[in-house]
Amino acid sequence: MPLVAHSAELVPRSRIRELAEIAMGMEGVLRLYFGESNLPTPDYIKRAAVEAMANGYTFYTENAGLPSLRRAIAENYRRLHGVELDPAGEIVVTASGVQALNLAIRCALDPGDEAIALTPAWPNGSSSVAMANAVVRQVAHPLCGHRYVCDFAALEAAVTPGTRLLLYTSPSNPLGWVAAEDEQRGLLEFARRHDLWLLADEVYDRLYYSGAAPGDPAPSILRLATRRDAVIAVQSFSKTYCMTGWRLGWLVARRDLAAKATELNEFIVSHAPSFAQKAGETALAEGEPELRRMLGRLEENRDLCCQALSGIAGVTLPTPDGAFYVFPRIDGLRDSFAFCKRLLEETRVGLAPGVAFGAGGEGSIRICYAAERSILEPAMERLTGFLRAGG
Ligand SMILES: Cc1ncc(COP(=O)(O)O)c(C=O)c1O
Repeated sequence: MPLVAHSAELVPRSRIRELAEIAMGMEGVLRLYFGESNLPTPDYIKRAAVEAMANGYTFYTENAGLPSLRRAIAENYRRLHGVELDPAGEIVVTASGVQALNLAIRCALDPGDEAIALTPAWPNGSSSVAMANAVVRQVAHPLCGHRYVCDFAALEAAVTPGTRLLLYTSPSNPLGWVAAEDEQRGLLEFARRHDLWLLADEVYDRLYYSGAAPGDPAPSILRLATRRDAVIAVQSFSKTYCMTGWRLGWLVARRDLAAKATELNEFIVSHAPSFAQKAGETALAEGEPELRRMLGRLEENRDLCCQALSGIAGVTLPTPDGAFYVFPRIDGLRDSFAFCKRLLEETRVGLAPGVAFGAGGEGSIRICYAAERSILEPAMERLTGFLRAGG
C-alpha cells in the first residue's frame, strides 16, 4: 500500500489549528486564537466583488494577477513608502499571504537548503520551508528591557554553507515587534554578506501604532533595498481590510524570482479569484477611512489588554508597536498548549499557545485583540481571573 510521502509527514501540523479545532467543537467560546476580528469585511469591498462578478470577472486571469490590480499595488507603494515598482515585472498577486510565502520560498530554496527564521513567528513560514523540503533554523528574538531585538550574533552562528534564505516578520505575529531602521539595515547587510534571499513578511504593515502620523505604515524593507537585491516582501489583504476569507495577497520580488513565481503559480492555484482581485483594487483605492477607524479601535484594544495584564504578578508584556496581538510571557509556564486547553475548557476563552510560534514561544500565550469589546472584555476578565487563581 502506498503511504503518504515521508516528506509530507515531516511537516508538523499547526498547533494554533490544533487548539482551534478543539474550540470549534465547543459552544459559547470567546474566540481569540486566530488572527482575525469578528467584524465582517466592510460593505464597500463586498459590493465591489458583487459588481465585479456582474461585470464578468468570473474568468481566468493572468498568473501574476490582473494588471490593473498590480498597478494599484504599485501605486500604493509609491504613496505609502515612496518606492517605485514595475507592476509588470516585480509584483505577483497571490491567493493569500500564506500562498505568497509558500511560492516565494519554493522559488528561493532547493531541497536540502537551509533557511533561518526569526521567531517567535507565525508557524506557516517555517512550515513552508519544510514543504519545500528544506530545513529551517529558528533564531529567537531576545527581550531586551522593554523591547524585542534581533540577535545578530545568533544569526551569524546559525549560518552554514547551506543557508539560502532569512525570513523575518515585521510587524511581528505574535510579538508586535516592528523592525527599527537600524535592524532592517542590519538584516539587509547580513543577507547581502551571506548571499541569502531576504524574505520580509510585511502583512501587518498597516497595523502600526508608532508612526510619525496616524495611519503611517511600518516601513517596508523595500525602502532600503534596491530592486537588484535578493529581497522578497510578502503581503496580504486579510488583516488591513478584514478580508481573511477572501484569500488575496501579493509578493514583491526581484524580477527573476517574480517571473518564476508567476510561472509556478499556474501549477498551484493559477491565480487569485478574479472578482476578489477587483474587490482588492477597491480596497486599496477607498480603504483609508475605514482603516483609520479600525486602527483607533485596535489601539484601544491593545491598551485594554496591556492594562489588564500589567497588574498580574509573573506576567511580562512589552507594549507591541504593531499587528493585533499581545504575547505575554508567564513565569513558570512550561506547557502553553496544556494551559490554553485548560483555559478553554474551564473559561471558554480560546487563545493560541506560545509553543505554536517556534523557538522562544513556549512560556507565552497569544491573544488576538482584533475582536469587538463585547468579546474582548469578558475574555480578558476570565483570563486574568484564571491567571490570578494560579492558571
Ligand atoms: C505573519 C503572517 N503572515 C502571513 C499571514 C497570512 O495571511 P493570509 O494567508 O490570510 O493572507 C498571516 C496570517 O495570520 C500572518 O500572521
